[in-house]
Amino acid sequence: MATSKIFRKDILKDKVAFVTGGGSGICKGMAEAMIRHGAKAVITSRSQEKLDKAAEEMRKQTGGEILAVAADVRKPEEIVNVVEKAIERFGKIDILVNGAAGNFLAPAETLSYRAFRTVIEIDLLGTYNTTKACFPYLKRSKGCIINVSATLHYQSTLYQSHVSAAKAGIDALSRNLAAEWGPYSIRVNSIAPGPIAGTEGVAKLLPSFAAESATRNIPLQRMGTISDVEQATIFLASDAASFITGQIIVVDGGESLRKVGVLPYPESVINPTNFSKKLSVKL
Ligand code: NAP
Ligand code: COA
Repeated sequence: MATSKIFRKDILKDKVAFVTGGGSGICKGMAEAMIRHGAKAVITSRSQEKLDKAAEEMRKQTGGEILAVAADVRKPEEIVNVVEKAIERFGKIDILVNGAAGNFLAPAETLSYRAFRTVIEIDLLGTYNTTKACFPYLKRSKGCIINVSATLHYQSTLYQSHVSAAKAGIDALSRNLAAEWGPYSIRVNSIAPGPIAGTEGVAKLLPSFAAESATRNIPLQRMGTISDVEQATIFLASDAASFITGQIIVVDGGESLRKVGVLPYPESVINPTNFSKKLSVKL
């Protein structure tokens, strides 16, 4: 259901949202939803071309104001540049969404040192870098942060050791910053989506042979939608959540309550070559 059927149209009027990973998938949805409810948005990721296309689509959909500037969240100087451009254009930042992330299925056994580091650098350090760069402005605006986490690390998820470690780190960072920055009236929360249909994450992580059983294992009996995450975003970004900080809103239809591994165990051990082909895992 569209957020506009539930929340007031101007609930985020005049707010400025800064969204990493905002050129595609879930975070594009989060940015667009906030614009629909009155915010202006800054979207950033590595590809300027992708951002420009996304910004154009969002302008058409919402008529809102969007600034699109490329940066790699692993490089603090690039993120600082986007923050400076955001301040030049809009004068403030009220809402930070840390959504930029990288992932692929890979058994820990074959993951290279650099592969593990890459995911930690994008997800965890990228979240810290962006948060740090935005902090002075969030302090001024008494703003809020929404980190995009996951549920992979609540128990364990095969072939996701790198991302599980990164997202667990993001959850720890969120709680600590919520405590440290509460006195500045900065709220820090996370959204932990389950499998969200039609996204790069699902395309990469949920092979088609496992999709049906994965859906059957979700208590609410469906995959999530980007719109499900948008609803949680508008709630957390708005004054409806003004006394909520340090929390993780799990948007997964109950999947993490009864996580059942949908990817096979023994095949990777018994027949690694075949396993690799089936999951497109680089071994
Ligand atoms: P997505 O569309 O691929 O989003 C990831 C975004 O991060 C892309 O826009 C990408 O853009 C950007 N990005 C990657 N590396 C970057 C870097 N070094 N610097 C700056 N930006 C970078 O995938 P998605 O599935 O919608 O995932 C969005 C978020 O939801 C992620 O945090 C993911 O972990 C989380 N999540 C997704 C699911 C799911 O079911 N899809 C489930 C749980 C959690 P560029 O390529 O232009 O850099
Ligand atoms: N399996 C195992 N290792 C992999 C891999 C895979 N499928 N894909 C990449 N790697 C390794 C690379 O081999 C490299 O390690 P090496 O130098 O030791 O060989 C390391 O990871 C970095 O890869 P590289 O392609 O240089 O990184 P990048 O910075 O260009 O891209 C990724 C980052 C790998 C995370 C890429 O998948 C990406 O850009 N993802 C963004 C979109 C996304 O993942 N969305 C889903 C979000 S849930």
